[in-house]
Amino acid sequence: MKNKGITILKIGGSVITDKGKDEGTARPEEIERIAREISGCDAGLVIVHGAGSFGHPQAKRYDLNAKFDPEGSIITHNSVKKLNKLIVDALNDAGVNAIGVHPINCVVSEDTRIKDMYLEQIQAMIDSGFVPVLHGDVVMDRKLGTSVLSGDQIVPYLAAQLEAERIGIGSAENGVLDANGGTIERITPGNFDQVKSFVSGSAGTDVTGGMLGKVLELLNLSDSSNITSYIFNAGQKGNVSGFLNGENIGTAISKA
Ligand SMILES: Nc1ncnc2c1ncn2[C@@H]1O[C@H](COP(=O)(O)OP(=O)(O)OP(=O)(O)O)[C@@H](O)[C@H]1O
Ligand SMILES: [Mg+2]
Repeated sequence: MKNKGITILKIGGSVITDKGKDEGTARPEEIERIAREISGCDAGLVIVHGAGSFGHPQAKRYDLNAKFDPEGSIITHNSVKKLNKLIVDALNDAGVNAIGVHPINCVVSEDTRIKDMYLEQIQAMIDSGFVPVLHGDVVMDRKLGTSVLSGDQIVPYLAAQLEAERIGIGSAENGVLDANGGTIERITPGNFDQVKSFVSGSAGTDVTGGMLGKVLELLNLSDSSNITSYIFNAGQKGNVSGFLNGENIGTAISKA
């Protein structure tokens, strides 16, 4: 695929929703601010957003990581779809030609890992100047019936398949923090054993591994494809536009 210059950006559910809540609670001002920061830097861009309080509490309530629950799967999917609409609408209002792409309609997983994803329409959207907006979702799973698919798994999958050039995961902290709250500059397979004691799940409800889940997914990506990615604070004004304009901020995750 001809994808030089593609950027994959995840906007964390911890920024665009209140993850302390048990039901979907959006942060409209943050959504609008981020949409404005994206406008004008949206060439060759794919957005993935997290589920925040629109997905994690629901998946936890129906125990979707442990068992197949068709009703709980639909409730969770419908909830994250609502968040997706809020984000896609805000992006369009800001002048970005964003289109929602729901993973449940284009992904098949096996034992929670993506096995297949229909990419042709995502590719065509990028080629035609649209911005596909995917999200954490419940997807069909060959072994489990359904499984919870994290946006943190979608990002490296798309990065590898589309041969993306820049990968960023925006969350609510300045990056991956050390024991003193300082931002770790770079995580590689070489220092992961040293830093992993500082990295854990989430302060809110998170069924897909919180910060540790992100770091593991991105280390995996750097190992298989040599791609460097960045975990940075999307809650801080100017960081999303800065990242899209080429600034390397937050914690870099790389092979060396
Ligand atoms: N060493 C660490 N550095 C930074 N954050 C950490 C660390 N260890 C754990 N965390 C937690 O991880 C959280 C970020 O992960 P979380 O999955 O909650 O956010 P998110 O990915 O933005 O949300 P979503 O999964 O809804 O998209 C932080 O808010 C913090 O509570
Ligand atoms: Mg998370």
